[in-house]
Amino acid sequence: KPPIIVRDFAAALGLKPFKLISELNQQGGFASMNSTIEEAVAVAVAEKHNFILEIKHRGEPAEKKAAAQEEVDPEEEEKRNLQPRPPVVCILGHVDHGKTSLLDRIRSANVVSGEAGGITQHIGAYQVERSGRKITFLDTPGHAAFTKMRARGAHVTDVAVLVVAADDGFMPQTDEALKHAQEAGVALIVAINKIDVKGANIDQVKTQMQQRNIAAEDWGGETITVPVSALKGEGVDTLLEMILLQADMLELQANPKAEASGLIVESEIDFGRGPMATVIVQRGTLKVGDALVCGTHFARVRAMFDDQGRNIKEAPPSTPVRVIGWSGTPDSGATFRAVKNAREAENLAEEEQLRLRQVATRAAAAPKEVSVDQLF
Ligand code: GTP
Ligand code: MG
Repeated sequence: KPPIIVRDFAAALGLKPFKLISELNQQGGFASMNSTIEEAVAVAVAEKHNFILEIKHRGEPAEKKAAAQEEVDPEEEEKRNLQPRPPVVCILGHVDHGKTSLLDRIRSANVVSGEAGGITQHIGAYQVERSGRKITFLDTPGHAAFTKMRARGAHVTDVAVLVVAADDGFMPQTDEALKHAQEAGVALIVAINKIDVKGANIDQVKTQMQQRNIAAEDWGGETITVPVSALKGEGVDTLLEMILLQADMLELQANPKAEASGLIVESEIDFGRGPMATVIVQRGTLKVGDALVCGTHFARVRAMFDDQGRNIKEAPPSTPVRVIGWSGTPDSGATFRAVKNAREAENLAEEEQLRLRQVATRAAAAPKEVSVDQLF
């Protein structure tokens, strides 16, 4: 801590140095221009001249704290809080090529004995564990829902598994699904399914992949390709391993400390519990008691359930969870976010309702356009 020198101190108080020296010597000292003054004495002298002496100690906690506050950059903070998160996987493909069978197989393989057969209820998303790591699956009823989610700008999917039946090959909806996955920029894995059936032709599917510029890895391309049988279970373990490998390459991260936000997968009215929504948390950690807003709807999270119906209190990023406490049923594909409190959530939802009503009124009042075709 720097010493208090008579010369400097006098200047700070606006006193002539000899005046200060005589004052100090009256208290029984032998002060001179370059003498140092005891802190307590300096405080007393300052007070006499109507000054308050604030002594700043270098490296003191107060100062350090102020400095640290200046340094906190929200972006830096965000980066520091990033944690690895599980991949969110979507299964796409042509009708009857085995999407549901594959999902069922993956899920049942994950059910611990004793619970087997216990899971019958449908849920739009679930999580499995593999080598101690989690994978979130989105059980979308076909790519219509995928497109809808993408149209809303909600990029929830990290990896798309394109299911192609080995006995059927690429079909119109396979190509459509591929196009959606490519446009969304998600990582692609091809699961060649039904390898157990007579007439299964893995090479034919790989040829078709090559023709579409998504050649399989073992054919000199880059697309991870796994032959599977959803029916018999063959290759399903490898598929899960490949999904985790792909996730590693993507270095998926999220900030679990942020305010929670995410995506509505589906919603329904539960007769016992009221409006209920299956959501995927994308950022932050969703907690019981949180206030949420989603378009014209709001919620105070009354309870949450995981994909096996168990009560949970907190849901970190990439967790699919069912939430009760909603004011209504939010649309699938819509995004929700946590806000300060229930009142704010309700206000925001009301504002959105009002806005939509105004838009509707204006649209109704606008003159209808008449096309040239109609004129003739
Ligand atoms: P949609 O939901 O209608 O688009 O069909 P999907 O893609 O979900 O196919 P689903 O899982 O319903 O399977 C269609 C049929 O193929 C069912 O009869 C399944 O039993 C059968 N299937 C699915 N995977 C396999 C497989 O690996 N091997 C064999 N042999 N049959 C399979
Ligand atoms: Mg299906």
